[in-house]
Amino acid sequence: MIFDRLLGRFSKDVGIDLGTANTLVYVKDRGIIINEPSVVAINQKTGQIIAVGNEAKKMIGKTPTHIVAVKPLSDGVISDFEVTEKMLKYFIDKVHEGGFSLFARPRVVIGIPLDITEVEKKAVEDAAYSAGARKVYLVEEPMAAAIGCRLPIQEAIGNMIVDIGGGTSEIAVISLSGVVTWKSIKIAGEEMNKNIIQYARSKFNLLLGEKVAEEIKIKIGSATEQQQVLEAQMRGRDLVTGLPREIIVNDEQIRDALSKSIRIIIDNIKATLEITPPELVADIFERGITISGGGALLKGLDKAISRATQIPVYIADDPLTTVVRGTGYLLDNLELLKTICCPPTSEESS
Ligand SMILES: Nc1ncnc2c1ncn2[C@@H]1O[C@H](COP(=O)(O)OP(=O)(O)OP(=O)(O)O)[C@@H](O)[C@H]1O
Ligand SMILES: [Mg+2]
Repeated sequence: MIFDRLLGRFSKDVGIDLGTANTLVYVKDRGIIINEPSVVAINQKTGQIIAVGNEAKKMIGKTPTHIVAVKPLSDGVISDFEVTEKMLKYFIDKVHEGGFSLFARPRVVIGIPLDITEVEKKAVEDAAYSAGARKVYLVEEPMAAAIGCRLPIQEAIGNMIVDIGGGTSEIAVISLSGVVTWKSIKIAGEEMNKNIIQYARSKFNLLLGEKVAEEIKIKIGSATEQQQVLEAQMRGRDLVTGLPREIIVNDEQIRDALSKSIRIIIDNIKATLEITPPELVADIFERGITISGGGALLKGLDKAISRATQIPVYIADDPLTTVVRGTGYLLDNLELLKTICCPPTSEESS
């Protein structure tokens, strides 16, 4: 349609990775414009949004009673629709400096988890439409991640991608532009933070904040033995005295704390391989497994997966941006986008 092409010329199509931990927005011809935590700070008295993204994340655990810092997504899906919608609108408005004009409503490609219900799918779609999208395309996140890694997903080749995010770890084998076998588990970065909080509580009677736990994980967390001892300060409140206390922990202790989650992720990778047709397993054996998402940065995780599966493991370049870069690639390849996107759950809004 000529009209459609005309609209297309004025609009800046966007790709969105609406993650549990981070939201990224890719704008056609411009690249990644937004990369911020999926957090919104709200004044509960007035309902007003006080901060979004980086500013809001700084407030977690530090707000007075009338302000709450909310993560509107959990386990990879929208748990608070209204806040998600506001967050999306805030980010998209930021991209489009003052929102969409009537002639500049964009196409929006959004990554969604494999393990999502129709209702949850519709919620994502609705949030994007009400944030001003002209047309919404939903793409399975592992598919977007694999495309972001430039894996040959269109060929008759087994591609295995493991995306370890904040809320979910998604394991998928892709061939001929489709997901053949997959598993999605709710054990990922945030669960690892909880493992550390739990460890501090049971070993040291120390109550840790979520942000402190995450910092320790990123600094010294690992899945395999390290070349040298790594140490970090663990600051929290002593549950016995009620006073602040600091303990030095090392990589071995944190590895111990994380081991259960790591084991579950690895077991699920193995279980996915077990249900994958042998021809594809042979391809994966030869070509390796690609890991992406923030969790792929955990020290030694590649090695641990490789040891357990006897398959080479590669960490994606810039693993935190693979999904959004995949959506960006799809904006430039609309034919491929139309082949792989999920069928819409609702009528388009225009
Ligand atoms: N260097 C690191 N080592 C270990 N974990 C890390 C590192 N850097 C980031 N992470 C973790 O990665 C997670 C965020 O990853 P990512 O942005 O891929 O998740 P997401 O896409 O928002 O979540 P999901 O895909 O589950 O919806 C966080 O839990 C963060 O703590
Ligand atoms: Mg993700």
